[in-house]
Order: sequence, then structure tokens, then C-alpha cells
Amino acid sequence: MQVDLSTTIAGVQLDSYLMNASGPKCTTWDELEIVAQSASAAVVTKSCTIEFREGNPEPRYSDLPLGSIPSMGLPNLGYKAYLEMVPKLKALGKPVVVSISGFSIEDNIEMVSAFQKSDVDLIEVNFSCPNIPGKAQVAYDFEQVECALKALTVLGDKPIGIKLAPYFDMSHFIAMANILKKFPVKFITCVNSIGNTLIIDPVTESPIIKPKGGFGGLCGDYIKPIGLANVRAFRELLTDDIQIIGVGGIKNGVDAFEYLLAGADAVQIATCFEKEGANCFERIENELAAFMANKGYKKLSDAKGKLKPL
Ligand code: SIN
Repeated sequence: MQVDLSTTIAGVQLDSYLMNASGPKCTTWDELEIVAQSASAAVVTKSCTIEFREGNPEPRYSDLPLGSIPSMGLPNLGYKAYLEMVPKLKALGKPVVVSISGFSIEDNIEMVSAFQKSDVDLIEVNFSCPNIPGKAQVAYDFEQVECALKALTVLGDKPIGIKLAPYFDMSHFIAMANILKKFPVKFITCVNSIGNTLIIDPVTESPIIKPKGGFGGLCGDYIKPIGLANVRAFRELLTDDIQIIGVGGIKNGVDAFEYLLAGADAVQIATCFEKEGANCFERIENELAAFMANKGYKKLSDAKGKLKPL
């Protein structure tokens, strides 16, 4: 039986449920072209800043048995380079999602305004990079989120979404959902890595990455229950006009199905793409379709958000 994995985010048609996350292997033209040629439903760029950034000192990434700990520090080409790439990226035939991560509201206004005039399909504003020394994650500062959304959601008609940090308390889900409801935010992407985690190598007696004294963003299997809970909590608190892209520890079709049950409209793949390469999109898509077919489901909406109470 064929399962229809197509979906839409803010009216943008996606041929499948999976796309890359703004994170690994989406910084340069060559990397983005590989994503476009894969089964990823869209091409998502690395979060950009006003200027080119080298990023944090090496070693700034380490694989872990069940995931990874990066602290890349937003290495990127600067937003103007991505703006110039948009026509070429669009010509590759997939929706383009640009991720921006300014260091101030002014930076974000400049970048959102520029991309509003471009041909990108969706704009994802990253409020949750944990890896910039001396910079707090905006997503944990509710007042700042509100100020930023007030300024960013009036700059044009292209759909804006925000990438959120993981939250761990019901009061935070409620506070954030109440802010989101005040603005025409079209989607949220949750969750970013769990910031400021520390892995110590007992042999060398040192952290395993260099930036921020070894503090980095935990990714992969370790964070899947947190990603699922964030998607679920926001799905229950928000109305359907704000869609949800789930991220965190998806490495097979069953993981993707769990995000579907929690209520995700699409999912993004980060660590698994980093470790396995671009073939992961087709593999996970096939596994998701087979798992759903086995249950007799024909399309995503047959299971979306339908987590059964115990
Ligand atoms: C990075 O440190 O570059 C990744 C963080 C993020 O995308 O939020």
C-alpha cells in the first residue's frame, strides 16, 4: 500500500515529511546542492548572521554513542551570500527555507527584510543557538521574544517561523504559547539542541570539545523524549494556524512516526544527517511509509496528533 507522506507548512507544499535541519552540512553551496539532490523535502540553510563567521575554535563537534555534542558557533557565509544563492537554490526544484540568527533585533530586522524581498519559501528565525560565547538564548527570554516578534512579523508576507529551545516546565510552554498566539507566526521548529551540556573524557580529564569550556548543545537520541514533549505540549496549547516542525533524535521511520503522533506537521533531521549523509532522508522516508502502511494508514493526517491516552 502506498502512503502519502506529503505535507504543507504555511501553505508551502512539501513532497515528504522530512527535511534537513538548520545545523549540519547546509552552510556552503556544495552542501546545499547535496541536500537539494537528496530526498529531503526542502533545503534548509545554516542559520546566517549579518557577517561571515568562522565559528568557534576546534574541536567543536564530537560524535557520542547516542548522538553528538556540537558547539559550532554559527559558522556561515553571511546572509548576503545566501540571499544571492536563493535563485540558484530555487532552480534546484525544492522549497527553500532560510534560517537566520542575528545577534540583535536590528540584525534580525535587516535579514528578515532582505529575505522578504527574495524568493525563499519560508523564513525560520533561530532564537535558540546555545553556542555563542557571551550570548544568551533569546528563546529563554520571553520579553525579548515578544519584542522581536512584534518587529519581525510586520516586515512582509512570507511566512515566518521560529526555532525554539527545549523547555522543561509547563509554565514555560504556556508562557511561550501565549506570546506566539499574539503574532502571525506560521510555524515553530522545536527543539534546538539542549544547550550547555558537558561531556568529560575521564582519560584525558578534559572536556571533549573546546568552545565555552566544553559546554555544547546535546543532540540525537538523548534529546528525543524532550523534542517529543515540546512538540506535544505546543500542539495542545496552540491553535492549528501555527504549525510545528519537530526535531530531535530522529534516525529512523519509527522516530518520525512518534513525532507525527505528537502532532508534528513535518520533521527535520540533524545528527543522523551529519553521521549518515544525505541518504538518510530516503531511508527514513521509506521506513516511515512502511511502518504506517503496516498499520493501515494511508496519509499523515490518519495519525497526526493522534497520540492515544493511556
Ligand atoms: C551552532 O552552534 O552553529 C548551531 C546552533 C544552532 O543552529 O542553533
